[in-house]
Amino acid sequence: MDKDDLNIEAYSRLISVGLLAAGVAHEIANPTAYIKSNTAYLLRNIKALRDMPNLSGDQRNVLAEALEILQENAEGIVRIERLVHELKSYSRPSGTVGPVALADVLESAVILTWNRLKYKADLARDMDTSVVVHADYGKVEEVAVNLLNNAADAMQTRGRITLRVYKRNGFGCFDVQDNGPGIPSDKQARVFEPFFTTKGKSGTGLGLYLCKKIVQEAGGTIKLDSEAGKGAKFTVCIPLADA
Ligand SMILES: Nc1ncnc2c1ncn2[C@@H]1O[C@H](COP(=O)(O)OP(=O)(O)OP(=O)(O)O)[C@@H](O)[C@H]1O
Ligand SMILES: [Mg+2]
Repeated sequence: MDKDDLNIEAYSRLISVGLLAAGVAHEIANPTAYIKSNTAYLLRNIKALRDMPNLSGDQRNVLAEALEILQENAEGIVRIERLVHELKSYSRPSGTVGPVALADVLESAVILTWNRLKYKADLARDMDTSVVVHADYGKVEEVAVNLLNNAADAMQTRGRITLRVYKRNGFGCFDVQDNGPGIPSDKQARVFEPFFTTKGKSGTGLGLYLCKKIVQEAGGTIKLDSEAGKGAKFTVCIPLADA
C-alpha cells in the first residue's frame, strides 16, 4: 500500500467512526433524558423525606447518603449530556453556507457566553466590521463560543479577553486572545487532539478538536500562539467571501 492508499483508508475509517459516534450519541440521548428526570424526581422527594421531623439519626443518615449518591449521578448525567451534544455536532450536516460578517458572529458568540464571561474577564474589541467570509454562520459561531469558553475557563483571576477581526492574504481572520495562564509548549501540540483536556470531569476535550474540524471544512486554518504565563491567542482564518 502506498501513502495515498493509507490516507484514504485512514480517512474512510474516520468517517465511519464519526457516523458511529453520531449514531451512538443519538441512542444515548433518550435513556439519558429519562434517567435525568427520574433522578431529579428522586432528589426532590428524598430531600423532602430527609427534612421530615421525627426521623431517627440512622434514618436521616441513610437518606443523606442516598442524596449524595443521587447528586453524583446527576453530575454524571450532565457530563453525558455534554458528550452527546459534542458528538452530535461532530457529524451534523452543515447549514447554509454563504457570506458571514465575522464581527457579527463574534458578537453573537459573546451574547451566548456572556453569563460566564462577565464574571471572568473584561472584553476588548478591535473588529473590522467589513470582513465577510464564506462559511456557515452557525458553525463559525460554534468555534467562537468554544474559544470564548476556553478563555473564560482559563482565567484564575479576573482577566482580559481581546477580540480582533481583520483581513490577511485573502482570508478573514479573528483572534480570541486572553491574558490567562497560557499553555505550556509541551501541551500546545496536543490541545487540538480529541479528548485532550486538563479540566478533569468538567471538560470533554472535544472543543478545540471540533473547532479545527469546522475551520478546516471551511477551507481555513486555526492557530495557537501561547507562552506559559503570558496568555493564549487562537487565530482563525477563513477564505473571504469576495476573494
Ligand atoms: N485559552 C486557553 N488558555 C489555557 N489553556 C487552554 C485554553 N484553551 C484551551 N486550553 C487547553 O486546551 C485543552 C483542550 O481544550 P478543549 O476546548 O479542546 O477541551 P476542554 O475545554 O478541556 O473541554 P470542553 O471544550 O469540552 O469544555 C483545555 O483543557 C486546556 O488545557
Ligand atoms: Mg473547551
